[in-house]
Amino acid sequence: MISGATRVAAVIGSPVHHSLSPALHNAAFAQLGVDWVYVALHVAPGDGQRAVDAMRTLQISGLSVTMPHKEAVAASVDELDPAAAALRSVNTVVPQGDGSLKGYSTDGAGFVASLAAAGHEVHGRSVCLLGAGGAARAIADALARSGAARVAVLNRTLATAQDAVQLAGSVGVLGVPSDLRDSDIVVNATSIGMGSDDLPCDPSALRAGQVVADIVYHPRHTAFLRAAHAAGATPVDGLGMLVHQAALQQQLWHGHLPDVQVMAVAAERELAARHQ
Ligand code: ATR
Repeated sequence: MISGATRVAAVIGSPVHHSLSPALHNAAFAQLGVDWVYVALHVAPGDGQRAVDAMRTLQISGLSVTMPHKEAVAASVDELDPAAAALRSVNTVVPQGDGSLKGYSTDGAGFVASLAAAGHEVHGRSVCLLGAGGAARAIADALARSGAARVAVLNRTLATAQDAVQLAGSVGVLGVPSDLRDSDIVVNATSIGMGSDDLPCDPSALRAGQVVADIVYHPRHTAFLRAAHAAGATPVDGLGMLVHQAALQQQLWHGHLPDVQVMAVAAERELAARHQ
């Protein structure tokens, strides 16, 4: 029941009507039994700062931020956590006790958490990271923070690859094709494979003993993960990152970590309803 006391959280983006976040977050609120509701708000490109001002005025209790507002919101909040400051990108806004707003980036930590939940630690491991867009940058930063021994970045565009390498600090290197075979963990952080059977790299380089993760979650079992499985590697699908980054947002907003399984079921149900 929504009442006068119900707290409101929202995602801002453009486009935003396709967002899975309302399904994920409302399922988490129900599972936790907290009096919150989550809605999607369309905010036009260029209006990110005004949306942050509106959040202050309306006293919205939690904000998720998606394309194209992550950078504008990072520039508009009062404080940034270290990952958001390094990335100059915010996907989560949290009101502080004094009324100020703090920005976080939970994408990279969500990815690392999804690997950990599947039984794979990144500490001390070598990683080959395919891609250097917004998601890949967040992952490069989080891998380095989590103690990865080496993060080799392979990307179509060299300039953005160099930027992602820098985010990984002393463990970041520009990747070469042999990194695909030599790394403990291979991550597809490009959009290749979303709604298609396209592959982000030559799958013949994948081998037994590797963990191969995809951030693409539709289809859930991408052609890349199917190739990894066929090569004897251990696949980790992209739904984990989606739900773990959202679970971390919940924890930042109200202090409780929801059951990620409940969120994954909600996401799968929503995806199935859209694609039947
Ligand atoms: P996101 O915010 O989801 O990470 P993005 O910032 O647009 O999305 O990044 C998409 C990533 O997929 C980039 O690394 C992009 O490579 P470029 O930096 O060269 O653009 C990569 N990508 C997308 N389509 C690709 C394709 N057909 N071939 C190679 N790389 C591709």
